[in-house]
Amino acid sequence: MKNHKYIKRSLKSVWHPCTQMKHHENLPLIPIEKGRGVWLYDFDGKKYLDVTSSWWVNLFGHNNKIIKKYIARQLNTLEHSMLAGLTHSPVIELSEKLSKLTKLGHCSYGSDGANAVEIALKMSSHYWSQTGFPLKNKYIYLENSYHGETLGALAVTDVPIFRTHYGALIKNYIKTDSPDLRLKKNNQSLVVIGATSGDTGSAAIHAFQNLKNIKICILHPHKGTSQFQRKQMTTTGSDNVFNIALEGSFDDCQSIVKRAFNDIDLTKNQSFTAVNSINWFRILPQTIYYAWALSNNNFSSFLCIDGGYNKFVVPQWHNKHCAQYCGK
Ligand SMILES: Cc1ncc(COP(=O)(O)O)c(C=O)c1O
Repeated sequence: MKNHKYIKRSLKSVWHPCTQMKHHENLPLIPIEKGRGVWLYDFDGKKYLDVTSSWWVNLFGHNNKIIKKYIARQLNTLEHSMLAGLTHSPVIELSEKLSKLTKLGHCSYGSDGANAVEIALKMSSHYWSQTGFPLKNKYIYLENSYHGETLGALAVTDVPIFRTHYGALIKNYIKTDSPDLRLKKNNQSLVVIGATSGDTGSAAIHAFQNLKNIKICILHPHKGTSQFQRKQMTTTGSDNVFNIALEGSFDDCQSIVKRAFNDIDLTKNQSFTAVNSINWFRILPQTIYYAWALSNNNFSSFLCIDGGYNKFVVPQWHNKHCAQYCGK
């Protein structure tokens, strides 16, 4: 019974994270000797399917041969050197690869998830202070969200067991409803707006028609779409679909949508979001459009909705949310 010895020693010497140690008076710790793939083994030879991937080995499992080979090779070459003032080939190679994959430019490194969150919070506040908006330093976080246990990460985390005892140390930011469908409240609804020259509107309406808590309003240029597209949009018979034919061009429609999002009075009391379609030829302009939206602090995140042939990217408006309404 080797297990027993390890349990005893561990309880005497280790504080286990995220754990009320009292629980282990009744619920025994499991001492782990080794791991391979999805399996963990205790000291008495019992095998456990590691369904939580021990949190951090979810991609490659335990004891991955390739990872071990490279770690061993690196340990035998250079186990550590500072990145401040020094550099080395692994960090350069990794940064080059990540940069190529993400197109995000330089890489910055943190030690863990909570640290990554801290860095993200600091970077965003730093950005605004450098660009002349030093007071833009508040964050919106989702109810029930978890972002780690450092003080900055806890400030955007909503799990009482991690926050409660540190209330006095934690900044108060703005908590918003979660887009989790399971938490949907009956009286909530979402208004989706969009501009179209025909195809996006038809497809978006097709995706959202007859959904209970969503209204979709599409602006199209009067006589600026094909008859077929116009009929697709205006003959659904669904009472959550609203079409507006505008005297003007598609750009005029689009500009009304953009202005609507900048109208604080309009959006204050509405769960309000925009819709656009992904089309590979449009990816670049869309990226610019959404970057513009983000830089104007208009949207907090984007949501992808499957509308059959088309996928929709829906920027989520401020502290409102929409995934929960879609029912898809
Ligand atoms: C969404 C999210 N953010 C941050 C963290 C914190 O990561 P770490 O424990 O590496 O600090 C976690 C950990 O589970 C997480 O799930």
